[in-house]
Amino acid sequence: MKKRVVFLMATGALFLFLSPPPAPAGETVYRFDPVTQSSRALVFANLWSGYKSYRANCKSCHQRGNDQGASFLTEDSRTMRGWNNVFFKKSVRCAKNGSWDGLSQEELRNINDYLYSKAYDTWNPNNARSCG
Ligand code: HEC
Repeated sequence: MKKRVVFLMATGALFLFLSPPPAPAGETVYRFDPVTQSSRALVFANLWSGYKSYRANCKSCHQRGNDQGASFLTEDSRTMRGWNNVFFKKSVRCAKNGSWDGLSQEELRNINDYLYSKAYDTWNPNNARSCG
């Protein structure tokens, strides 16, 4: 009898150990990317990489009191659609004058993903994602 309990507990522990880690709460969010005409899942790896590129590139100019003549920008300076337009139309001055040239297409997509995920209109009181 005792052996059986030990065996069950051991299999239980093994099962927990082998099972994949719990998925983060909430549903996967997608962004339709007008540049590639495809849907992109806003997964953590891309958002994190986009955040880092945004800080290192865009924010090197678009910070308060910069000497590049660039306006102060934050994630919520545009709506989701607004950020998509910035990266699709590429009509802002820095996109035209070559300031984005050091960034690969994939890096720009990740920055777009990141900014989209934090855009002005992403806050939604009826959605668990807005809780923190
Ligand atoms: C070398 C400096 C520089 C870099 C790097 C840079 N920008 Fe700019 N950006 C400018 C300047 C200068 C302007 C034109 C002045 C203005 O309106 O801010 C501009 C304009 C803009 C505008 C329009 C401004 C507004 O207030 O609506 C957006 C949006 C923008 N940039 C986004 C970005 C993004 C996103 C990145 C990173 C991928 C980036 N910029 C990287 C210098 C830069």
